[in-house]
Amino acid sequence: MTATTELTSVNPAAQGQPIIRLTNVTKRFGGLTAVSDVSMEIYPGEVVALAGDNGAGKSTLIKMISGVYKPDEGHIYLADREITMASPMEARSLGIETIYQDLALCENLDATVNIFLGREPMKRMFGVFKQVDRRHMLTESKTVLDRLDITIPNLRRPIRQMSGGQRQAVAIARAVYWNAKLVIMDEPTAALGVPEQRKVHELVKTLKSQRVPVIIISHNLQDIFAVADRIIVMRRGQKVGDVMASEVDGDDLVGLMVGAGEA
Ligand SMILES: Nc1ncnc2c1ncn2[C@@H]1O[C@H](COP(=O)(O)OP(=O)(O)OP(=O)(O)O)[C@@H](O)[C@H]1O
Ligand SMILES: [Mg+2]
Repeated sequence: MTATTELTSVNPAAQGQPIIRLTNVTKRFGGLTAVSDVSMEIYPGEVVALAGDNGAGKSTLIKMISGVYKPDEGHIYLADREITMASPMEARSLGIETIYQDLALCENLDATVNIFLGREPMKRMFGVFKQVDRRHMLTESKTVLDRLDITIPNLRRPIRQMSGGQRQAVAIARAVYWNAKLVIMDEPTAALGVPEQRKVHELVKTLKSQRVPVIIISHNLQDIFAVADRIIVMRRGQKVGDVMASEVDGDDLVGLMVGAGEA
């Protein structure tokens, strides 16, 4: 392979219509082109890893899918409909759930509240006052966590007191509960111990088995090979590889990330 040719291969599992499709997407920050002319498609039930060195444009790319940035050029389609999102809330309402490294969970609130954040069920008191239905939130949270085989001893504990793995689990439970069409994870295991990393891998596989595609950014080759069907490699804002995980090894990936001949 050469540094200039994009390495691509076809995913045999990629059938039907992509859930999300980017065409020629570019994002600039002043004079710097963080993402340059990237096109990609994500299909139902696929786990796609986004790999690349620091500053390659991975986070910027997913932030355009999650409503944080608007592309300067190019288009984003959800199913066959072009979407433009004014905010991350709007992306969430379209079914695009992003789990950032800091998770965007509310530290001082408990797991149930975090699962329902911004979408709390209300009940009427005495037929007049509206109040958040905490009991409903608790039973629903228990159900979804059970379904994902996640054990959190006390759901009423603030998130702040939970381990990194438990937090990831709550964020994933939220995505599953709200029937996410696409889940994006930016470095989900960076701060986790080995058992917790395994749990996150299991959860990614659970999402996959439910046909929810996952885009996972990771620096960790073990992470990538543990969960990814396909790997998209970014270098200096450009997509330089789109390969099946089964067809490459770590050396191939590193070669793509740093550029053949530049390593
Ligand atoms: N808000 C911003 N303003 C200006 N430049 C930015 C901004 N966000 C990112 N950049 C620049 O865009 C480029 C791509 O950054 P990005 O965060 O997307 O990389 P990354 O692949 O996620 O890197 P890392 O692996 O370190 O997280 C970098 O050169 C970065 O400095
Ligand atoms: Mg990043």
